[in-house]
Amino acid sequence: AVDVRKLRSTTGYITYDEGFGNTGSCQSEITYIDGEAGILRYRGYPIEQLSENCRFIDVAYLVIYGELPSTAERARFSAALTEQAPLRAGMERFIQNFPRDAHPMAVLSSSLNALGAYYPHIASNNHQRDLEHFDEAAAIALSKVRTIAAHTYRVSGGLPLNYPKKSLGYAENFLHLMFSVPYDEYNATPEVARAINLFLLLHAEHEQNCSTSTVRMVASAGANLFASAAAGVNALWGPLHGGANQAVIQMLTAIHEAGDDGSKFLEDAKNGKARLMGFGHRVYKNYDPRAKIIKGSFDAALASLGITNDPLLDIARNLEQAALSDDYFISRKLYPNVDFYSGLIMNALKIPAEMFTVMFAIGRMPGWIAQWHEVASNPKAKINRPRQIYVGPAKRDVPGFGE
Ligand code: ACO
Repeated sequence: AVDVRKLRSTTGYITYDEGFGNTGSCQSEITYIDGEAGILRYRGYPIEQLSENCRFIDVAYLVIYGELPSTAERARFSAALTEQAPLRAGMERFIQNFPRDAHPMAVLSSSLNALGAYYPHIASNNHQRDLEHFDEAAAIALSKVRTIAAHTYRVSGGLPLNYPKKSLGYAENFLHLMFSVPYDEYNATPEVARAINLFLLLHAEHEQNCSTSTVRMVASAGANLFASAAAGVNALWGPLHGGANQAVIQMLTAIHEAGDDGSKFLEDAKNGKARLMGFGHRVYKNYDPRAKIIKGSFDAALASLGITNDPLLDIARNLEQAALSDDYFISRKLYPNVDFYSGLIMNALKIPAEMFTVMFAIGRMPGWIAQWHEVASNPKAKINRPRQIYVGPAKRDVPGFGE
């Protein structure tokens, strides 16, 4: 067998894999993906079964702790999330001090990082010490990401903050925090709560995508959960990653406003003048199983919300149909990804487009927590430190030096 370390030190040999398309950066027990077959499993359980039978917090527990919770475990986990839902007054002021038009992802990443400062015993940047309080840290991150998100939305609209209610479940509390107004409490219908639960659990984990790799990269240097997750949020914000769900709605709206049925836009996408947002995936070379589930639940969800006619949905369906029978997309194996339809569900739930990627971040928090834990609890974990291929100038002398 080749000793790669020796080879590297004696020959300078390194592998070059642009965009890490074929590089396994770690071993992980959390998520299995077969991109060719369109298979996704969390801890061995198929995503189709989980989305049919579980709520988000059950899946979050599974992703973080490795097993679906028993009744007693679910009750304990749920109580911990309820206890951790409110923010300290200083954190509330921190969020209120942002300009109203700040992008919620900027507020979220800063707030998650700031959150660690309030809990020095779990954000000590000493993995051993941080792990002693892991359950508390996980509950704080998972519960408070939702409160931060909702407070951010309230501040952006100049609205007073709402406070979490002990009687409500995770999704219902989120909707209450977002939408309740004095004398008119928002009571989520079971259909709306189900749609939020589904959205969140479909995003709970997805192995070494850009944001999760970022979380692991930061964690590999010994950083705490909050610092690592904040970095993940920044990676997620990009339009080629989580920001795509916002970009899809903007794309569909622009197509609609231009009076196009999608066909002109598709031509632009094929000519490299535009990118069909919500299509294509680094790993899935087949229909993204999460997109399939969202699409399958779409009609029922919209009907339950009383929406029978959505011009953006018509355009999305046209685009999908045309793309899936077009050589450009077929030959490149470009299929709808989870972001293609998820924004339309969020739209129907009256969640503003700027909050879509924040919703993705709430959903992805269990994955980031679990992946951080894998790094922090691995005594053999190494700092992540890729190499590069240097293509700059050869050695040259500063004028006045050399001959
Ligand atoms: N629209 C049009 N053409 C596309 C698209 C698209 N959405 N995606 C890929 N292509 C084309 C590329 O131009 C390229 O064509 P070429 O071979 O003629 O140069 C070919 O397909 C391969 O594309 P790459 O960009 O090399 O694929 P990569 O794996 O690097 O990118 C990505 C994957 C970023 C998801 C890409 O498909 C994309 O930009 N999609 C739109 C953004 C999006 O929906 N992102 C969400 C991803 S899912 C998630 O983060 C949850």
